[in-house]
Amino acid sequence: MSAMKEEKSFSQGLIAFIEEWKDKPGNLIMILHKVQEEYGFVSRESADTVAQMLDIPLATIYGVLSFYHFFKMTKPGEHNIQVCLGTACYLKGGEMLIEELTGLLGIEIGAVTEDGKFSLEGVRCVGCCGLAPVMTVGGEVFGKVTKDQLPGIIAKFK
Ligand code: FES
Repeated sequence: MSAMKEEKSFSQGLIAFIEEWKDKPGNLIMILHKVQEEYGFVSRESADTVAQMLDIPLATIYGVLSFYHFFKMTKPGEHNIQVCLGTACYLKGGEMLIEELTGLLGIEIGAVTEDGKFSLEGVRCVGCCGLAPVMTVGGEVFGKVTKDQLPGIIAKFK
């Protein structure tokens, strides 16, 4: 019965998608992608619901979630900051940007600020290496970023 109740927290579209993929090979990754697309992350409740709908152990789901770095298990901040740590950006100081941001925001990589405004991630090449080092805030791209520009960039989103 509780499964029924929890399923209701998924949208009709998501439930239909899961029903459609239920018995197809490779379905779990597809379904978890879809959940993340809808909510921005895969919560414990979502993982529970998927486990019940597919009739698989929760541990199987957590195995997939922790294996693929793409999946987030905690709710991202209102503005998710991604710092590119691909080779070009790394060589041009991507890591230094992360260090500076952890100081400015008071959070580590993978965490969210207390007010829920910002989260911080290191990501692989985002495809504009000519602009290295690159960071994005909620999808907006900033290139050739210097340490000194960071407070201004953050202020823009406050
Ligand atoms: S390495 Fe950063 S954009 Fe390619």
